[in-house]
Amino acid sequence: MTTDAVDPARRLTPVVRVAPAKLNLTLAVLGTRPDGFHELHSVMVPLDLTDRISVSILPPGSSDTLHVDGFDPGPLSENLVLRAIAAARRAARPAWGRAEPPPALAARLEKRIPIAAGLAGGSSDAAAAADAALEAWGVELDGESRRRLASELGSDVPFFLAGGPALVEGRGERTTPLAWLRDGDDAHDRPGVLIVTPAVGISTPAAFAAWDAGARVVGGAARLASAHLADELRKGLGVADLLARASVLAAANDLAPAASIVEPGLVPFKRALLRLLRRPVGVSGSGPTHWALYPSHAEATAAAEQLRGSIAVGDLPSPGPRDPFVAATRILARTNDPRRER
Ligand code: C5P
Repeated sequence: MTTDAVDPARRLTPVVRVAPAKLNLTLAVLGTRPDGFHELHSVMVPLDLTDRISVSILPPGSSDTLHVDGFDPGPLSENLVLRAIAAARRAARPAWGRAEPPPALAARLEKRIPIAAGLAGGSSDAAAAADAALEAWGVELDGESRRRLASELGSDVPFFLAGGPALVEGRGERTTPLAWLRDGDDAHDRPGVLIVTPAVGISTPAAFAAWDAGARVVGGAARLASAHLADELRKGLGVADLLARASVLAAANDLAPAASIVEPGLVPFKRALLRLLRRPVGVSGSGPTHWALYPSHAEATAAAEQLRGSIAVGDLPSPGPRDPFVAATRILARTNDPRRER
């Protein structure tokens, strides 16, 4: 661990991080643990769809502040960014080594990832905010302390420390980095991802409670598909190989039936989406985000345009008070560090 003083340049220059959304290509729920959490086996990838966080040091005597633009994430007092800064401050104390705690921060969050959508936007913001806070204070934590801080903040947070595709196990705290797609860099066409998020938040605890109450698929197909994909990524998978597996992956989410119990409107929604897109449609996390893979960003963009047209004429029955959020994005390129702004 190392500590610097907070030098004057740091006080003036905000530290900026991008916080990518994640997509569950697979999500197997293996069982309920004694602590009430669920044992998972999931292959996750970061997306180009990102929030942006910046933090600047405030004068002595201030408290942490947060300003949010974009999607409304709900009460600021419950925002994971402020909790992440507070937890990072506690974790930084030994390395900081002074009587007074590391200084207060002014955080700004540009929220472009839909909220409570199965894309882990809040968890990614937390990981990015903790990382930015530590850099603003000039404190470096060792790997173990970082992992502990991340799991304390939430089950989805440790994934964002992996900085790329990862196999996620346990309640989310065990992450094993997986290889990027062989040709998934800026020199090639990366897979395009169409994201369609109905305007209803699904609470993760509610989805797991529905799973506990019996909303599940028997047979373990998601577990098999998940293990298989993790193996294939380890060995080196190309974009075309991933697309060829789209229908298996789209079916490999054990929380999808639970999400439809929590929000029954997802059943006609998915049926209509399948009819409109004519390709496999999966669910990310506990929903309600649905996804479809395309060979390129251009094709995902064309599909998004077409879908917006269908929505405008009422062809996609979607739960919630507003039209769904529709975005064409990509799996993040291996050449990009997801945490640094490009
Ligand atoms: O860890 P996090 O606060 O994100 O989890 C929110 C809730 O989701 C937990 O309280 C728990 O109900 C549920 N959960 C679970 N098993 C997991 C992850 C989350 O049951 N692996």
